[in-house]
Amino acid sequence: MKWLEVFETQRARNRPGNRVQVATVDERGAPSLRTVVLRGFTRGGQPWFFTDARSEKIHHLQRSPHVSVLAWWERTEDQFRLDGLATVHGPGAVDEAAVLRKTSWQRLAGRRAAWLGPAPGSVVGPPSLPPAADTAEPPENFVVVTVTVARVDWLRLAGAHSRVRFTRTGDDWLREELVP
Ligand SMILES: Cc1cc2nc3c(=O)[nH]c(=O)nc-3n(C[C@H](O)[C@H](O)[C@H](O)COP(=O)(O)O)c2cc1C
Repeated sequence: MKWLEVFETQRARNRPGNRVQVATVDERGAPSLRTVVLRGFTRGGQPWFFTDARSEKIHHLQRSPHVSVLAWWERTEDQFRLDGLATVHGPGAVDEAAVLRKTSWQRLAGRRAAWLGPAPGSVVGPPSLPPAADTAEPPENFVVVTVTVARVDWLRLAGAHSRVRFTRTGDDWLREELVP
């Protein structure tokens, strides 16, 4: 089975199973973690989420696209670590990413305030500017991030512990059983 099929099969047993941790690398080379909602996979099998371009994670990605995405599912005792390179899709997004960005923004109706006010992570100050206008078009700072996965590490703790590594080899994947 391909890693994505395994991932989706196990995820379905852990609903919603879409809160994952994403690690980026900061300007000092230090890891930086946060939780995001995994929105799904592109047609090419890239996991994706959306965020604010003004957030720290995006500043990190502009310097280094390396990410690690971690899912731990308590019910089935599976851990998946996906390592790869992130691409940030903003106003210049094309093709599927542009559609994902636009439809995500449209579905966020009523929950868009975070993108229309001050930057995430900035110190709260006295109210200054009114929030930006809410429009049907996503604002510049609403971005979709896709991850081109290069390596997957799947650890199963249920039953006899097992561990499988999937490594991208061109268009295919090498599957290897590892010592857990
Ligand atoms: C359950 C949960 C889901 C979250 N989902 C998202 C998300 O989909 N996108 C996002 O930008 N931040 C999300 N956050 C907030 C991030 O964890 C983080 O606090 C924020 O994006 C700022 O991160 P940064 O300063 O490291 O860039 C979520 C937090 C939690 C606890």
